[in-house]
Amino acid sequence: MKFLVHTYGCQMNVRDSEAVEALMLAAGHEKAANEDETEVVIVNSCTVRQKAEEKAVGKAGNLIAAKKVTGLMGCAVKRMGADVFKRLPKLDFAVAPRAFGLIPRILAEGKFPRLELGDDVAPECLAAHVDGGWQAFVTVLLGCDNRCSYCIVPDVRGHEYSRPAKEVIAEVAALARRGVKEVCLLGQSVLRYGVRNEAWSAEHSSADSTREPFPRLLRALAEIEGIERIRFTSAHPSGCTDELVQVYKDCPKVCRHLHLPVQSGSDRILKEMGRRYTRAAYLAAIRKLRDFDPAFAITTDVIVGYPGETEADFEATRSLMEEAGFDNAFVFKYSPRPGTRSAQLPDDVPTAEKERRDQVLLADQEARGQRRNAALVGTVREVLAEGPSKRNPARWSGRDGGNRIVVWDRDAAARAPALGERVQLRITAAHPQILIGETI
Ligand code: 5AD
Ligand code: SF4
Repeated sequence: MKFLVHTYGCQMNVRDSEAVEALMLAAGHEKAANEDETEVVIVNSCTVRQKAEEKAVGKAGNLIAAKKVTGLMGCAVKRMGADVFKRLPKLDFAVAPRAFGLIPRILAEGKFPRLELGDDVAPECLAAHVDGGWQAFVTVLLGCDNRCSYCIVPDVRGHEYSRPAKEVIAEVAALARRGVKEVCLLGQSVLRYGVRNEAWSAEHSSADSTREPFPRLLRALAEIEGIERIRFTSAHPSGCTDELVQVYKDCPKVCRHLHLPVQSGSDRILKEMGRRYTRAAYLAAIRKLRDFDPAFAITTDVIVGYPGETEADFEATRSLMEEAGFDNAFVFKYSPRPGTRSAQLPDDVPTAEKERRDQVLLADQEARGQRRNAALVGTVREVLAEGPSKRNPARWSGRDGGNRIVVWDRDAAARAPALGERVQLRITAAHPQILIGETI
């Protein structure tokens, strides 16, 4: 059957959707060229905030048509359980985030409606990739056990589970043979890789001095021929250890960019959130990275309007962001999620005030991004080419190790770069979200 997958939410969902596509293709289905010829529509949903869930479920609702088979997968399914069929009475099937591997079988059996909420996922499903492309996501850690007060992820993505290192290494090696140059390792709290369950098998215990499982995994992956860049996301500050810092120093393939959600700059709010670090500890962690490379890119997530967040708490977040000198920041307005600890507290910051705080932080970040980028003017950055710029096709676009977008003039370039090709660029101008370069 001809199918399409629509994806909402984070990189985990992007990765799960890709695995579903690969499994569907392997089962003999075909990707549809457009909405009209689609026979099976699958929407991969998010539920991290109320609005995110509404968007995904709304999309599924719009796509439901008599002649199509419609399925919903992902986080919102696990949150709603059987209620998903009350919200979408004509939905054919719904599968939880870890149950996506069942989709081809569900379609083959054709018994609708069908609901799968299980947390078991077969290793071969996690490793399924669609051919082509020079970048790939690789899931290394499933679930999360951190239990931050506001976060629904542990409820919907299940307990923390680290894939065996052997499996991850084999998957990345296979991707490299298929032409992949850049991998991004995924986990909700990816630095906890291997901490809970045995992730490292004896075969790979090389005699290096790195004992922590995630730094070891990085070192092993950096040895794979053909892989030029390794990224990972998302990180909890507690995992920013000296061993990790040493990997950054030793392995040029490991990109000098860390997405390190801080959530708040107020110690009182951090404590209420159950984040297990202080503002000072957070700043100390990133200082270790910027000390050896001032251009080390640090990006973050921040929540505004958490229950009881005062003006003073908000100002603490503002000043922390300035002290940290973030290269980029995503700001989220607090949204109570059913079943989380903070949902029992009054959501007492008015919507208009959340909006104001959001705007203030975004304006600050715009100016800060400009300053951070301006400091790179005159330096040479190595980028991997990603093709013509979306905004201005007269330019090529790529990203540096810090995940910064760099664009350069097509005319001035000697020839078209291949996708994923390394290009050395001298930075000539800076904008808050983009660098301009020239080939050297
Ligand atoms: N409300 C608002 N933002 C949230 N996030 C997680 N849960 C919530 C919530 N209930 C944000 C956090 C996290 C990012 C992915 O989403 O900042 O890092
Ligand atoms: Fe949520 Fe991230 Fe905390 Fe996990 S680590 S509970 S995903 S905020």
